[in-house]
Amino acid sequence: MAVHSLRKRLLVGNWKMHGSLQGNAQLLAELKQGAGSALACDLVVCAPYVYLSQLASCLKGSAIAIGAQDVSAHAQGAYTGEVSASMLADIQCAWVIVGHSERRQYHAESNQLVAAKLRQALDAGLKPILCVGETQQEHEAGVTHSVIIEQLRCVLDWPLSDLQKICVAYEPVWAIGTGLSATPDQAQEVHALIRAQWPDSIAHTLHILYGGSVKPDNAADLFAMPDIDGALVGGASLHAHDFLHIAAA
Ligand code: PGA
Repeated sequence: MAVHSLRKRLLVGNWKMHGSLQGNAQLLAELKQGAGSALACDLVVCAPYVYLSQLASCLKGSAIAIGAQDVSAHAQGAYTGEVSASMLADIQCAWVIVGHSERRQYHAESNQLVAAKLRQALDAGLKPILCVGETQQEHEAGVTHSVIIEQLRCVLDWPLSDLQKICVAYEPVWAIGTGLSATPDQAQEVHALIRAQWPDSIAHTLHILYGGSVKPDNAADLFAMPDIDGALVGGASLHAHDFLHIAAA
């Protein structure tokens, strides 16, 4: 427990493919107002690329940081439709989600591709959030641990100076957007497994977020677990009231 308290909690909102200039302005104004009252956690909002500049100007001077939901595996060049890590850094985007299960599932992102994206993010000075998680089928087959270890394997031999900058999010695919959150004990077990894969000397500094149907009414129980350092929140991050309630938990 003492070690847990050394890691400041981190709450990351993932808007996914939602938003509009007008709707965002209102949501961001509410978040800014609510976050003003010295929350005990760091806040990040990850929006679609086209709105990142809007976030940068609306959130200027606030304690809320900006993140993207994906990044190219290439540094620059003829990759139509892609956005590079250095472009994100250029517009004050500090964070990026990498390997979200919706990217792995709908865009066939492999562990190798996810690792290449992670590399780009680190090289550009972004803080990457590496998402891992098992599908419902894998969960039912009892192979969660081996799936998670495989998803982490690509990066585990990277230098400590890289691993220190990575944040991991455990998001069981069966819990995303389903209203079916993992129980605090189920999540804790996997979080402890993830921490155990990290090199001993820096394992205590690794932030591991839980994601999958986090809401105001289940956040406090999840955050009470020793290896859960915050959350990656989808649906509930689209409502300022809910997001701030989770932050207060
Ligand atoms: P959810 O999504 O909170 O809507 O379940 C979480 C995520 O996909 O990051």
